[in-house]
Amino acid sequence: MIRRLSPAFVAVEVVFLALSFGIYAGAKEPDPQIVNIGARKTVSLDGDWKFIADPYRIGFVSYHQVPLRDAKTFFADKDFYDDRTRLVEYSFSHASALKVPGDWNTQYEKLYYYEGLVWYRRIFDFTPVKGKRYFLYFGAVNYESEVALNGKRLCRHEGGFTPFNIEITEALNEGRNSLVVSVDNTRRKDGIPTDNSDWWNYGGITRSVCIVELPESFVCNYSLLLDSKVLGKATRRKPELHRIFGSVHLEGAAPGTAVNVRIPELGVSVNAFSDMEGDASFEINSRPVLWSPDSPKLYDVEISAGEDVVRDRIGFRYVETSGNRIMLNGKPVFCKGISVHEETIGTSRRVTDASECMELLSYVRELGCNFVRLAHYPHNEQMVRAAEELGLMVWSEIPAYWTISWDNKATYANAQRQLEDMILRDINRCNVVIWSVANETPVSDARTLFLSRLIARVRELDPTRLVSAAMEKTKVAANTYTVDDPLVEYTDLISFNQYLGWYSSNNADCDLTSWTFNSDKPVFISEFGAGAVYGNHGDADERFTEEYMADCFRRNLDMMTKRMPGLAGMTPWVLKDFRSPRRLLSGIQDDFNRKGVISENGERKQAFFVLKDFYASSLLGQIGLLPHNY
Ligand code: GCU
Repeated sequence: MIRRLSPAFVAVEVVFLALSFGIYAGAKEPDPQIVNIGARKTVSLDGDWKFIADPYRIGFVSYHQVPLRDAKTFFADKDFYDDRTRLVEYSFSHASALKVPGDWNTQYEKLYYYEGLVWYRRIFDFTPVKGKRYFLYFGAVNYESEVALNGKRLCRHEGGFTPFNIEITEALNEGRNSLVVSVDNTRRKDGIPTDNSDWWNYGGITRSVCIVELPESFVCNYSLLLDSKVLGKATRRKPELHRIFGSVHLEGAAPGTAVNVRIPELGVSVNAFSDMEGDASFEINSRPVLWSPDSPKLYDVEISAGEDVVRDRIGFRYVETSGNRIMLNGKPVFCKGISVHEETIGTSRRVTDASECMELLSYVRELGCNFVRLAHYPHNEQMVRAAEELGLMVWSEIPAYWTISWDNKATYANAQRQLEDMILRDINRCNVVIWSVANETPVSDARTLFLSRLIARVRELDPTRLVSAAMEKTKVAANTYTVDDPLVEYTDLISFNQYLGWYSSNNADCDLTSWTFNSDKPVFISEFGAGAVYGNHGDADERFTEEYMADCFRRNLDMMTKRMPGLAGMTPWVLKDFRSPRRLLSGIQDDFNRKGVISENGERKQAFFVLKDFYASSLLGQIGLLPHNY
């Protein structure tokens, strides 16, 4: 299914990274990602976990910075064994608790700005069943983590927004177990993202944790994708005939294990057999009703192998480009979107549950959107699934953001791993139509090589979606701009961020500006906008007033609809005011980026209604853009 980088390459890089951060070099990589966790038999470990903030990393290294032997590290959880005969200078039992899932920054005032190492400890009772296999599954941990169960160090993981799992069958105790996880959100120059970003560095076990029970041989991951070639025209009573191709990856299965895939509503049942790697592939010719924003049709799918059965809800559609149009199911579509950070309304912390996803998406729907850019990192799985049910197309991206260490091999391996894990988790979410590999990265040969390699990797893994990045504009003449980024050669879209009216320009500049593009590809505005404090009113030329922001939206929308040839979609920046350590203007920003069309408390600014009216207007149809009722 998805081939990892060569173990030797990874091992060398892990040792390098581990030694540079005092992390035990022997910790292994997680196991292959188990997808669709919500459909598996699980025991939740969400709730209160004890924690110890450890800014000097004494849980890993001695006072002379020598890595501690396992029995001396906090992974050993000494106070769990009540060992009073020896010097133990930490105690989880006497520590405070953090909610999991959740970022630590918003749970304790003293952790608001904390960037460093935190130790988490969860005690749980368990009765393993003979013949079953058990895995620990983490929805996400920001940024670097290492997992130990009953003092046995199991794996390390880097990347704050993708899931990982590790087998614990051998490490589980009958009865009480001590699970210790080290979490370090220190920003790294060589990380993905790097040490500079315009969002809060929320640290912690930010998504759910559970124990997954599986049989000896199980369905690990799978994909069912519609081929964009139409095999047979639709008849009066039947949809078009399409080819669905897919694969199933088994773990623990002998070669030749039978796999069955059923889609009852389509009368489909297909068998395949696993190869030496545990992979089975199949093809189905069928006439599914295609998923679209107006008709988000999903089918019940059942995949079985041996005693394992996993059920999912999967939609089928095809997306491609034709000249400067984005085509969904063979028809042009205009992507009426908005960008969203994964931050709650009212409390402004990392999203932790489905209701918070629905609250964000309710505003997206109220705007009249058919699209949402989940910036700047893979959001939690419930968000993608909720958007799918609601008929919202998704742009999903990895946090290769701004000034990445383009020449660092370990950085590339990390970026590719995060990309693979994002795709593996969501490849069956038909509403994901664009994978993005970067945001606003300064152009250089090393950067374009790095990103073009990632784009090639996406196309290997998933030929059914568009691939792009949020690039930047270039001035070609007074009041004329283009995007002459060499990356356009590799992307399916000319997608870019532009802030006319806000950064080094005023709103009136929009009225004078035209755009020209050299590639016949769809133009997609991945960001535009301006800041305003909700309730702050003044003249339309006064920055940070709602009037200024609304005027910025009006003039940009006018400019883009009249003087931006090939415009096929937009995701204005941004749905909600969000926390950022770069936004320091007291009384106005107060640690918040104020470009939200709603405030951090969900109050709608004037610009919200400007955008809503634009998406509802026939303007999209009148001036040569696509029928807005698509
Ligand atoms: C950039 C960046 C965003 C940032 C925005 C801003 O385009 O992609 O992450 O928040 O600009 O400056 O507000």
